Formats: sequence, structure tokens, C-alpha cells
Amino acid sequence: MLNIAVKAARRAGSIIMRASDNLDALTVRHKSLNDLVSEVDRAAEEAIIDTLKSAYPDHAILAEESGASGDSEYTWIIDPLDGTTNFLHGFPVYCVSIALAQKGVLTHGVVFDPNRNDLYTASRGAGAFLNDRRIRVSKRDRLIDGLVATGFPFRMFKHTDAYVGMMKEFMQKTAGIRRPGAAALDLASVAAGRMDGFWEIGLSPWDMAAGALLVQEAGGLVGDLEGNEGYLAGGNIVAANPKLFPQMLDVIQRHLTTDLRARPGGTTG
Ligand code: IPD
Ligand code: CA
Ligand code: CA
Repeated sequence: MLNIAVKAARRAGSIIMRASDNLDALTVRHKSLNDLVSEVDRAAEEAIIDTLKSAYPDHAILAEESGASGDSEYTWIIDPLDGTTNFLHGFPVYCVSIALAQKGVLTHGVVFDPNRNDLYTASRGAGAFLNDRRIRVSKRDRLIDGLVATGFPFRMFKHTDAYVGMMKEFMQKTAGIRRPGAAALDLASVAAGRMDGFWEIGLSPWDMAAGALLVQEAGGLVGDLEGNEGYLAGGNIVAANPKLFPQMLDVIQRHLTTDLRARPGGTTG
């Protein structure tokens, strides 16, 4: 299954890279404020689904552009192009993200960065790999030495104040904050020890699924803003090496609003 996912991710990567040579020719549509989609997102998603479906016609799909379809214990969770805004500006930080969940448990994940030709893969219980070499989260154990990735809540402004509070404190208590612009790649970077931690508010399952498995299989921890499970449905995520995870939660904790605390059975939106 992982091999098929890799094949699908590479196909999508070629479509994206071919299009990156001629960005001016693309038609871009606003799905909502700051939420862009181009025909490249769609073509990449079609190629992925086509590849997965020809191998596993009965599996269900949850994909960013075409939504949910099928009914199976297996669901492929797909972001055909994570980092669309970067892509459309020619800023070469974006990726393809594909994960498989079986009965709601993530079992395989692929994140492919076509610019660096970096292929991140993970299967539950079998470790995480970057271009077939085993990766592990970093060993840094003091937040003040940590390089932390994040994403801004740039579509949903009700969390701005809480988020800025977190950012202000992390600014003072880490070695640096980065906002690369592709959540799946941020998580993959944590898995590879290139970043020490990551947090973001208001993500979708396809932004997080593959990257979260990568982090766990690389020995890291993933949770919602209170460190609990349910982040895929809730949309808010913290990921870090095991030493920095509680230290990040500690900072975040001080800025949580009622809205940002997980509600059983609901999302934190
Ligand atoms: C976005 C990117 C970005 C994150 C956004 C996502 P998209 O995905 O992952 O880093 O901050 O919240 O929606 O729209 O480029 O697939
Ligand atoms: Ca995305
Ligand atoms: Ca996307």
C-alpha cells in the first residue's frame, strides 16, 4: 500500500513541477478568503486518486478538492498540493501528502517534496524514512535551543489574539520560529529532526494525516493543543520531540481560550 501511495505522490509531483515552469498560465480560483485552488491542485488530485483507485477500487477517499467518497474500513486522506499559495508565487516550498487510515487509525503516510526530491514515508510500527534512510526527531531538550515551525491562522481570524500570544512567548523562548507555508512539510521536517517542533490552529485532516504518522514513527509526539488525541478532527496540532512536546504545551496552555480547548465530540474550528 505504501508503494502505491509513493507512486501516486510521485505522479502528482511531476504534474506540479511541470506546471511550476509556467505559473502565469494557471487559472486560480478563490474557494474562500485566502484559500486558493488552481487546475494543478485538481490535476494532481485526479492523478493520485486514479493511481490509488486502480490498485484499491473499494477504498474510500477523503481528498481536499473532491471531498469524501466511498465506504470502506480503508480511507486515503489526500492533499494533492500542500502549500498552494507558495506554489502560485513560485516560492518552492510545497508538497504532496497522502495517508491511509484503517478503521480511523493512520497506517501509512507519504509526504513528497518535488523541489528537493525528498520522499518521506512511514508505516505504523515500521519507522519513518527520508529517501529510504531512517529518520528520527531531534534530541534537543531545551525549548530555548529549539527551532519551531508554525502556520498562521490566516483564514479564521477569531483565534488571532490567542495565536499571537503563543507566538510572542515562543519568540522569546525558542531559538527561532519559521512559517514555511506547507503544514505537511512542517511535520515531515519535525520527523526528520530539521525542526524541533510545530504547532498550528485550524488545519484540515489532509494537512496533518501523513505528517503526523511520520512524526510518531520518527519517535516524536503529536497531540491537540492540550496534548490529547483527536487533532485530526479538531484541526489544532502540536508536534515535537518527546522532550520539547510538554514544554511547547506548557507555553500554549497559557494562551488557550474556551474556543481552543477540545470539546468532546466536536471540533475546535
Ligand atoms: C495550507 C498550508 C499552510 C497552512 C494552511 C493550509 P493548502 O494548505 O498547509 O501551511 O498554514 O492552514 O491550509 O491550502 O496550501 O493545501
Ligand atoms: Ca493543505
Ligand atoms: Ca492543498
